[in-house]
Amino acid sequence: HWALTKVKNIETIELGRYEIATWYFSPLPPEYKNSKKLYFCEFCLNILETKEQLQRHMRKCDLKYPPGNEIYRSGALSLFEVDGMKNKVYTTNLCILAKFFLDHKLMPCEVASFLFHILCKCDDRGCHMVAYFSKEKYSEESYNLSCILTLPPYQNKGYGKFLIAFSYELSKKEGVAGTPERPLSDLGWRSYQSYWTRVLLNALKEHKSENDISIQELSKMTAMKTDDILRTLQSLDLVQYKKGRQVICTDPKVLDHHLKAAGSRGLKVDVSKLIWPPHV
Ligand code: COA
Ligand code: NA
Repeated sequence: HWALTKVKNIETIELGRYEIATWYFSPLPPEYKNSKKLYFCEFCLNILETKEQLQRHMRKCDLKYPPGNEIYRSGALSLFEVDGMKNKVYTTNLCILAKFFLDHKLMPCEVASFLFHILCKCDDRGCHMVAYFSKEKYSEESYNLSCILTLPPYQNKGYGKFLIAFSYELSKKEGVAGTPERPLSDLGWRSYQSYWTRVLLNALKEHKSENDISIQELSKMTAMKTDDILRTLQSLDLVQYKKGRQVICTDPKVLDHHLKAAGSRGLKVDVSKLIWPPHV
């Protein structure tokens, strides 16, 4: 029973201390059809239509962090894993929120088959959502990330790359190479290309042996899929064919040159702070 029109419906949303202009249409249940602005409870993600309703809600709502297991904490940054099966309202509302900033993705029709990883900045008032990614619980295509969003006030500060790195750390723990679900948005592609480029250049720099390194070895080290590795290395012109064999360039000068030109590093994941599978 979602709205049928694709015209941008809501102009702004309020979330915690931010008022955020939306980018795209998001399918809302019909009761919101006359609203231009929506108010999200920043903790439980309930959607309200007026400031008064939000204030009344905030007096009753005693959630101070996302309804899931904290699987990472480093300084003020915490990451919570929320199960769509156990928290349907929260995760459905999160998808509605995310769709305001995503043009191409369909809404996942079944939140129950996804885990949602919510990155928060915590202070004495609670844990405030900064960014999140969703991940299928079982993916036949070995997707390790379905949808990723950094809330606009927090964009371009390295949180996106942090979550991308986090998704690959989970793949390493699972022992399976992963890749993001397609299609990706322009901003999504740029973030991935930049992440893949840095990770591969650094892996090649660390390779000290005399023997050539293979795409398969790089995949074991990084949990990246071989297709993504090959495409990234080719785009950097680091793959040559000698006597029919693939040879990957490991010349430190060439690698350093590319690293200088590569984008920003992003916030670093401290793997020692990751508790996964979570203690429940
Ligand atoms: N303008 C242009 N490019 C920008 C940008 C901006 N304001 N902010 C981020 N980027 C690009 C840059 O290419 C940057 O890499 P670089 O610094 O190496 O050039 C890259 O995004 C990653 O930056 P980072 O700060 O780590 O990411 P982020 O926290 O801004 O999050 C997204 C990246 C994709 C999650 C974020 O842009 C977003 O939420 N977009 C809307 C939702 C979306 O499109 N999701 C992906 C498809 S599922
Ligand atoms: Na940047």
